[in-house]
Order: sequence, then structure tokens, then C-alpha cells
Amino acid sequence: MSNALNRKLPPIKRILVVGSGGRENALAWALIRSQGIEMVFVTPGNGGTENHKGCKRLAINENDTKELIRSCSINQIDLVVIGPEAPLAAGLADQLRQEGLIVFGPGANGSLLEASKTWAKALLEEANIPTAKFWSVNTEAEALSIVSKINVPLVVKADGLAAGKGVTVPSTIEETKKAIHEAMNGKFGEAGTQIVLEERLSGPEVSVFALTDGERLVLLPSAQDHKRLLDNDQGPNTGGMGAYSPAPHLNEELLNNIKSSILEPTLKALQNKKINYRGVLYAGLMLTKSGPQVIEFNCRFGDPECQTLMPLMGKEFAQILYACALGRLDQAPKLEINKNCSACVVTAADGYPEAPRKGDEISVDLVDLSPSIQIFHSGTKLNSKNQLLTDGGRVLSIVAQGATFDEAFDNVYKCMGKITYKGINFRQDIGKEVRQTFQSSQRL
Ligand code: AMP
Ligand code: GLY
Repeated sequence: MSNALNRKLPPIKRILVVGSGGRENALAWALIRSQGIEMVFVTPGNGGTENHKGCKRLAINENDTKELIRSCSINQIDLVVIGPEAPLAAGLADQLRQEGLIVFGPGANGSLLEASKTWAKALLEEANIPTAKFWSVNTEAEALSIVSKINVPLVVKADGLAAGKGVTVPSTIEETKKAIHEAMNGKFGEAGTQIVLEERLSGPEVSVFALTDGERLVLLPSAQDHKRLLDNDQGPNTGGMGAYSPAPHLNEELLNNIKSSILEPTLKALQNKKINYRGVLYAGLMLTKSGPQVIEFNCRFGDPECQTLMPLMGKEFAQILYACALGRLDQAPKLEINKNCSACVVTAADGYPEAPRKGDEISVDLVDLSPSIQIFHSGTKLNSKNQLLTDGGRVLSIVAQGATFDEAFDNVYKCMGKITYKGINFRQDIGKEVRQTFQSSQRL
């Protein structure tokens, strides 16, 4: 047996998280709580980064590769964790790896899973992974001719990254044609020069996450996002207004089925393309009558799903990400998962998602805050007087755990009264369905 197989993972103490959202705030929180971690730097971070002891903000833009590399050297960084899709798709992980850094996050080639729907659909098709029938087109005329031929409303997707807004699910053929016209005439900029038309599927949607070292993968608990702005799933699509975990629609058997019929074949298909994918494989799935089908892939943690998941992670979390980044997941400790239900509600700024107001003072009353509550920051900043201000569309994620979803969500909603800023809004009904349908359900 080779010595390499017996080698223990090197110790890890200092981590850099790249990104400024709630996802990165939650990642930093989970990483600093992990065994042996002394410091977590977050760049550029936000107004809440330094609320977590051991976390430090570095004011470096995520596009400033040179400065990021310099800072990794100065701060003796053992592991870089890249949060958002844009720097991943732009090749930040590749550039950092070229400098010898250990990075959790796929390179530009692997990030195509999210950055090009055409590329991802072709990979799914090649690997025989269940997904909606699709047509990838480059011109409006071609798209319209497919619509005439198929003669049912089709889902219209901009090929490229469109900040979660590039998908339209029309109810009529007329709406399909309108969506095609808009996408191909600049509504999503460059992202819409190519589009994917897709057969419309139906069924409950769930998000499944795996951490992978390019060869092996470990499943995380599933989650359910709430994308619409308003109660009862009304209003425009957003990045996500709340989430919960685990998704009770997925029992262990179904989850294992998804692992073997979707996640492992996806990894294999990436390997066949010589892509060494080290990061998060996030599958958005629809549980259709004929089984789970892939709606989309993301190359990162979801936001706010990440905020919901992080409190369920054991103290091995940092070691697991490190092992993935090194391609040595087989040598990682087993990830312990807290078996509680986790609930998250996002507070948004007035005007979100079109034109969020910024600059309003936020007050959070931390007196008597239950230890099972986490407040993660997204669009916040500290001004020169150290006042906390709103600074983006989604402002805070309030997260809590409980033995039941009722307990977890009651904890979250009780905490809402402790947060004030001008124009605060949040959905009152996050988790309503799971609370009604799975009244006393803990994990299945
Ligand atoms: P995406 O940005 O790809 O996650 O898509 C946004 C939303 O559009 C998804 O969460 C689904 O609700 C919906 N969607 C995407 N593709 C389909 C499809 N083929 N059939 C039905 N709904 C879809
Ligand atoms: N919450 C959905 C996403 O992060 O893509």
C-alpha cells in the first residue's frame, strides 16, 4: 500500500472566504467553529463579518486576484473558500491554484455547470441523467420555429449567469414567445445571446448539495428555498427569501437514489471531460411523477440555503472542505450532521429586487437572544461611526434550529421583532407548507 493512503491531512488553521453575502457570512461562522481553526478572513465581507469572534474582514474586491494572492501569503492562508459563482466562473480558483494555494471551489471549466445552461444540459444528456427535454438556440427565429413545432408553452432560460433571474416559466405560447424575444434582445445582457428552451416539468422542488474532491462526494442535508418575494409564492423571483432544511420530501432512500442516479454520474461525466471539480455540487431538482429530474446545477452553495445548512454542520466542516480542496476526501473525518430542523427567513430592503434602498440604519436587539438563533448578514455595512447600515437587497438572514419545523420557525419569527430598519420586509409564510404537511416531522 502506498504511503500516500496512510498520510494524515495536514493541519489547517487559517482560512480565507471570498465573497460578501449571507452565504459567506454563514460559511465563515461555521469554519471558525470548526476544530483547530484560528482565523477566518472574509473578503470583501460585510457589516456582520467581525460579529463572529476570530473572523476578520479584508477590504479586497473579489476580482482583484493579485491582491488576493498577496493577502493569502501575508496572512498565511491554508485554504481559500470561494463563495459566489461569478469569481468561480471567471477562473479565480484556477488562478489561485496556479500560485500553489489550496482552494475549495471549481475552476472555470467546472463552473460551466452553472455558467452555461447549454453546456450543463449537454453534459446531462451525454451522461443519461434525468432532466427536461431541451433545445439550445442562438437566434430568435430558430426559437420561434421550435415553439411552433412543439406547440406547448416552453420554459425559457438565458444560457449564461443572470443573477438567478434568467428563467421564465410561461403559461401560454404567447408568453413563451414574449420571453424569447426579451431574453434574446438584451433583457439579461450577454447571458441571453444564447437560450435554452425546456419542456415544463412539475412537482415539488428541492435542493441537494454534495461536497466533492473531484472523485468522491459527501452529501449534505437537502434544503428547500423560497424564491418569490411575497407570501404564498407571489411577486417577482428573488435570490431567495427563506429556506429550511432538511426537505422532508426527500427520505433517505430517495436521497441515495439521487446520489447514484444524478450526483455520481455528473461527477463521472466531469471526470470524463478531464475536469477536476473540487467544490460544491448543488443540484436543483424537481420530484416529478417519473422520478427526480435536474432543473439546474450550481457550482456553489445556495444563498440562503447555506445560512440554513451551516448550523447543522459538525466541527469537522473545515477539514472536509480542506480534504475536498486537496483531492483527499477519503482521508477526511466523517462529517457529523446535527439532526435538528433548521429554518431561515431573509429580511429584504424596501424596493428589492428591482431597486433596493440602501443606507438605512439597522438595529438588532441582542438581549435575550436564544442561543439557537443565528443572525447572518448579507447587504450590510458599517459606516465610519460604526453604525450598521443596509447596503443591498437582502439584508439579514435569521436562522434557528429546533426538534420540529414549528419550533425552528417559531424561534425565527420571534426574533423578527428584535430587528428594525426603515423599509424592512420579509415573508411571513416561509415554511408554511412544511409546517402544515409535516406537522410534527423531524428528520425522515
Ligand atoms: P433556475 O434559475 O434554473 O433555478 O430556475 C428558476 C425556477 O424556474 C426553478 O426554481 C423552477 O421553479 C423553474 N423552472 C426551471 N426549469 C423548469 C422546468 N423545466 N419546468 C418547470 N419549472 C422550471
Ligand atoms: N437560493 C438560490 C440560489 O442560491 O441559487
